Amino acid sequence: MILDGKALSKRIKAELTEQTAAFTAETGIVPCLATVLVGEDPASAVYVRSKRRSCKKIGYESRHHHLDAGITQEALLQLVEDLNGDDAVHGILVQLPLPKHLDADAIIDAIALEKDVDGFHPRSVGHVALKKPGFAPCTPAGVMRLLEESGINPSGKRAVVIGRSAIVGLPALLLLTHANATVTVCHSRTSREDLEELVRKADILVAAVGRPEFVPGEWIKPGAVVIDVGINRVPNPADPDNPKGMLVGDVAFATAAERASWITPVPGGVGPMTIAMLMTNTLIAAQRTAGVA
Ligand code: GUN
Repeated sequence: MILDGKALSKRIKAELTEQTAAFTAETGIVPCLATVLVGEDPASAVYVRSKRRSCKKIGYESRHHHLDAGITQEALLQLVEDLNGDDAVHGILVQLPLPKHLDADAIIDAIALEKDVDGFHPRSVGHVALKKPGFAPCTPAGVMRLLEESGINPSGKRAVVIGRSAIVGLPALLLLTHANATVTVCHSRTSREDLEELVRKADILVAAVGRPEFVPGEWIKPGAVVIDVGINRVPNPADPDNPKGMLVGDVAFATAAERASWITPVPGGVGPMTIAMLMTNTLIAAQRTAGVA
C-alpha cells in the first residue's frame, strides 16, 4: 500500500487551518513565518515559494526576505537577530544551502531556539536526542507522523536508516529509537555487502542518501515498510530530450513496491510531509508565545 504523504499533508494543513482560525480569534495573534532566501538557486526558490503558499492557505502571515547572493555574513546575522527580536515573527526559516562564502552553521546557531521551526539548531537536535520539548527537524518528524497516522508502530521492529545527515538520518535514528525500534544506521562508508545484509532484515527502511535507486527493490524484506526520503532528478527514459527529466527516490520503487507492505512514492511521499511539519511547528511556536501550547 502507498503511504500517501500528499493526502496526509493536505489533511494536516486543513486541521491547522481550523486550529489557526480558532487561535487567532481567541488571541488576536496571526502566526508568522519569516523566510530567508539568499541568491537565486532555482530549487530553493521553488521550496520557499511552496512554503509561503502553504502559510497563506492556512492563515499565517508569511514574511519573505530575498537577499542578494553577495550578502555578507554580518548582514545576514543582523537580519536573523532582527527577526529574533521581532515579536510578530514566530518562526524563522533560512533556506539552505547558503552561498559558499557564508557560514551556514553560524547563521543557524543565531536563530532563537523558540523560533527554530526547521529544527536545525544544534540545541533543537539536542532536545530531540534527550526527548525534551522543542522542534524536531521537519523531514524526520514527517516520517514519524506518516508512520503514526498509518497505524505503523516501530516498537520492537528492526529499522535501518541509510544516511547520517544532521537534518534527516541522525534525527531519524533518534526519533525511531524513542519509538522503541531497534535502529541501525548505514552511511557512505558502510560496505555494499553489509548494506544488503542489513536492508534484507529491515522491517522499516528509511532511505535518505540522495542517490537515485541506491537500494535495489530485491533487497526489501517481504512485508517491510519503505520510507524513501530521496528526491533525485534523473533523465526520463520515456522522454530523453526533456531537460527536466524525472524524479526518483533512493529506492528502486517498482520492484520494492512488489515486496513492501507500505511504501512512500517519490514525489508525493515524504516531501509534502516536510512542509506539513513546518506548518505544524509554526502554529506551535505562535501558540507558545501566547502560553497556550
Ligand atoms: N533545504 C532543503 N530542505 C530544507 C529545509 O527543510 N529547510 C531549510 N531551511 N532548507 C532546506
